[in-house]
Amino acid sequence: MSFWQRTATCGESRPEHNGKEIILNGWIARVRDLGGLIFMDVRDRYGLTQAVVIPETDERITQTARELGAEYVVAIKGIVRQRESPNPNMPTGMVEVLVSDIQIINRAELPPFEILDDSNTGEDLRLTYRYLDLRRQSLQRNFIIRNKLYQIVHEYFAERDFLEVETPTLTKSTPEGARDFLVPSRINKGKFYALPQSPQLFKQLLMVSGFDRYVQIVKCFRDEDLRADRQPEFTQIDVEMSFVTQDDVLNLIEGFIARLWKEVLNMEVVLPFKRMSFNDAITRYGSDKPDLRYGMELATLTDLVKDSGFSVFTEAIAKNGVVACLNAEGCGEYSRKTLDELTEFAKKYGAKGLAWMKFTAEGGELKVNSPIAKFLSETEIEAIKQATKAKEGDLLLFAADAEYERCYTILGALRTEVARRQGILDAVKNEFSFHWVLDFPLLEYSEEENRYIARHHPFTSPMHEDIPLLDTAPQNARAVAHDLVINGYEAGGGSIRIHQNPVQQRMFELLGISHDEAQAKFGFLLDALKYGAPPHGGIALGVDRLVMILAGISNIRDVIAFPKTASGLSLMDNCPSEVNLRQLEEVGITLAVKK
Ligand code: AMO
Ligand code: AMP
Repeated sequence: MSFWQRTATCGESRPEHNGKEIILNGWIARVRDLGGLIFMDVRDRYGLTQAVVIPETDERITQTARELGAEYVVAIKGIVRQRESPNPNMPTGMVEVLVSDIQIINRAELPPFEILDDSNTGEDLRLTYRYLDLRRQSLQRNFIIRNKLYQIVHEYFAERDFLEVETPTLTKSTPEGARDFLVPSRINKGKFYALPQSPQLFKQLLMVSGFDRYVQIVKCFRDEDLRADRQPEFTQIDVEMSFVTQDDVLNLIEGFIARLWKEVLNMEVVLPFKRMSFNDAITRYGSDKPDLRYGMELATLTDLVKDSGFSVFTEAIAKNGVVACLNAEGCGEYSRKTLDELTEFAKKYGAKGLAWMKFTAEGGELKVNSPIAKFLSETEIEAIKQATKAKEGDLLLFAADAEYERCYTILGALRTEVARRQGILDAVKNEFSFHWVLDFPLLEYSEEENRYIARHHPFTSPMHEDIPLLDTAPQNARAVAHDLVINGYEAGGGSIRIHQNPVQQRMFELLGISHDEAQAKFGFLLDALKYGAPPHGGIALGVDRLVMILAGISNIRDVIAFPKTASGLSLMDNCPSEVNLRQLEEVGITLAVKK
């Protein structure tokens, strides 16, 4: 069918076009038949334009207008004219199109939900009809930001001599971080490819090949539990550079972020970013990705309460643990019920309980109200007050734990929860805070696996001065690693890599990977490190998270065109799905699970 092609988009008509004849192509967003006038909103990617039919002028056009339903695809011919009641909230709101003809290009069934910007339709239904959901301008806006980000990546890195190189999607399964998605091989039955969790090894090998500077916008796949900021397939801006120091990597990325914020939001980002050690991040904010848009720092009280009469504190300390505290400023009025809710919240993070202390004023004097006050001396309470800078109206929340990181993580989670309840997160929602977290421990001990695991990945270089610690006290060795944190999100992470074969071998040993296993799984890397590997390092930024932050939204699915649900499903095409027996036979698989 031939149709009248547009001469203007639905987003561009302005008063200077008054009197001009145009044709719009788009979707009917809304029709209002007022009898004397029929108004319709026509929508395309560029905007919304109001069109108006005057019934008495032409019966045929009037009849066509009355046939129109939501989401009909139309061509509207007409003259741009001044609107009688302008809508200053719409870019095209000063004008309307006086319709001279309408062509119905395609009819639409009544959609399963109304396509509104502020949709309150359940997400499952929207994901089932994702192609309709994506018609919403509030969603399309995220993809326009995302597209801008791609363009800036290509420009920024090309200007700096980076080469874009593609790395494989069918790769070798290597134990590194999350679980792999596996792909059975038909030609090599019983063998599997793995989808890459990241192109980490390939980008390092490209450095060994002398590519010097690599960048790629690349899909990564991780079979892990999903959260609001996690998807099983997500996109990275993957970067690697040779002959660089950590500062070079940080400076490069700061410049990129500043360019991104300038071009997308027209905002000046102050450089350089703050830098914070992992230890500071944990002990002051209870998180390795603290949100620094607001204060509420934690205080460590171990030394102040070690001789107190409160056994919960002293027992944790006796086990080499810590006691720390969050001053929930201005929360002294929290009810018993709210405190119980916070206790339950803290328990999700492993807390055994949640001791609290309120400071109230009675007769001009600061009074302490706390179930644990009876176990503390006046001097101890005074010391706690000083350490936490507590004042009238404040609430202190205590955590005592034999495990140092858990103690702070509980309080870090409470810090965010209190900020949410107090409306602080809402108040700072248009602000941005950028900083680096550095000086990570190289290893962490996994009780579950009974061995050390790499905190970043096994290819991260220890700090030069900490290399001897690998033999004496590996748990104290620090990594030359860096995480970029924006508003409490880990927006990127990377490191300087190990480029010497013996150091890499030693690292595998520490991780409990035997020589033979290392050779079988990472032989190609170990070999490559023997043939003149340059010092190198890099980073990967999470594209989806950057777009979320730029767009000011908290659901990662809103920045991915066809995302998965929290249980890993694509509701639109029903994936993952069963396959037929012949397909399984071809790849040599028999199912143990009965259908
Ligand atoms: P890392 O594992 O820290 O590092 O990943 C880098 C960044 O990718 C984003 N990200 C995710 N985004 C959405 N969904 C997920 N499931 C997800 N997982 C990670 C985060 C994170 O900071 N190869 C190393 C990088 C390097 O060392 O250069 C790596 O992949 O924003
Ligand atoms: P209990 O003596 O067990 O009744 O605890 C007294 C108070 O300490 C209660 O408010 C508990 O919630 C709290 N509490 C118990 N264990 C911990 C802990 N590990 N850290 C902080 N507070 C705790």
